[in-house]
Amino acid sequence: MSDSTDLAGQTRSRAPARVNIIGEHTDYNDGLVLPTTTALYTTVVAAPRSDRTIHANSRNVQDTQCFALDNIVPARNPDWIDYVKGVAAELQAAGIELHGANLEISSDIPLGGGLSSSASLELAIATALLSLNSATLPDTEVAKLCRRAENRYAGVNCGIMDQYVIACCDSNMAMLLDCRDLAVDQVAIPDSVRLLITDSGVKHRLADSGYNTRSDECAQAVKLLAENDPQIAALRDLNMETLEAQKEQLGDLLFRRCRHVVTENQRVRDAVASMQSADIGNLGKLISASHASLRDDFEVSCDEVDQLVTIADASTGVLGSRMVGAGFGGCVLSLVESDKIDQAAQQIRQRYKDVCSSEPWTHIVMPADPAGPYD
Ligand code: GLA
Repeated sequence: MSDSTDLAGQTRSRAPARVNIIGEHTDYNDGLVLPTTTALYTTVVAAPRSDRTIHANSRNVQDTQCFALDNIVPARNPDWIDYVKGVAAELQAAGIELHGANLEISSDIPLGGGLSSSASLELAIATALLSLNSATLPDTEVAKLCRRAENRYAGVNCGIMDQYVIACCDSNMAMLLDCRDLAVDQVAIPDSVRLLITDSGVKHRLADSGYNTRSDECAQAVKLLAENDPQIAALRDLNMETLEAQKEQLGDLLFRRCRHVVTENQRVRDAVASMQSADIGNLGKLISASHASLRDDFEVSCDEVDQLVTIADASTGVLGSRMVGAGFGGCVLSLVESDKIDQAAQQIRQRYKDVCSSEPWTHIVMPADPAGPYD
């Protein structure tokens, strides 16, 4: 019997990383997000097997695991393989007939760094299994089933942002996504700016972190608010006026969680307008305001990330910085004047090294292809 290193008859698929420009922790509140993708990829080389098992090898984790396609159940303590299992299970639930496969997985995306290594893995696996089984599904459906895989098999109550942008983003564009009706507008990123990523080195694991706690808090706030106003189906339906009126009923903690979501949705709208008018100064201010709100109201930052944001903001050409992704560690995104990008990256690496003793990884966001097969 062949093992996971037997790759005869192979196909190759890959999916990029997600970089969220603004609109953090708004997707599971039916809100607005403005992510893009970058040319860091999860790559899957897949080959058919004659039995009904999946053998997957992760080069990054240096681990090989296998499972039967006929008996996929959610694990109590999900591991990396559960993302693979979840995607296979959801593809089968969507009516795709799968055969066994050997999968060789590698990724250039820092794991647990806020660049959605997990959604990238899900989309790369989905694309690989579809192409290996000569099946197709609309990109938007693949995105939705990958989200279900993460919700049900990895135990993370994530929203739709990461899977959607990785499946459907146009290269070199930002994607304004309305997470309620899934309406999409592709927005051009002004040439006068570049996006710089710096890794704080603090790893998060979504399921272990406060991510699910935050989504529970938002659901709890909606429940309380709907008692007075049944029109409120999600935090998306709130504005500052209605929120202020409910301050007492919500209490300080839930009020601040709601305030982050309301103000962040507005920052997304303002960021789109700033990008369209190439007002990069204002875009930088919105990015900084997003960080302050995530730090103080939503409380998903941490000391190292806050320090890195301060260092980045003091560097040449940086217009604004913030934590990116779920939070509790991971990467910082900086908006930088294009002609100062190398200088900024060098200064940030040098100055953060003084804080955390090793030089941090930096990456300049590059145009990427959406998830799909490639040669
Ligand atoms: C993670 C989740 C997304 C989103 C972000 C925070 O990346 O997968 O759905 O909620 O966190 O904006």
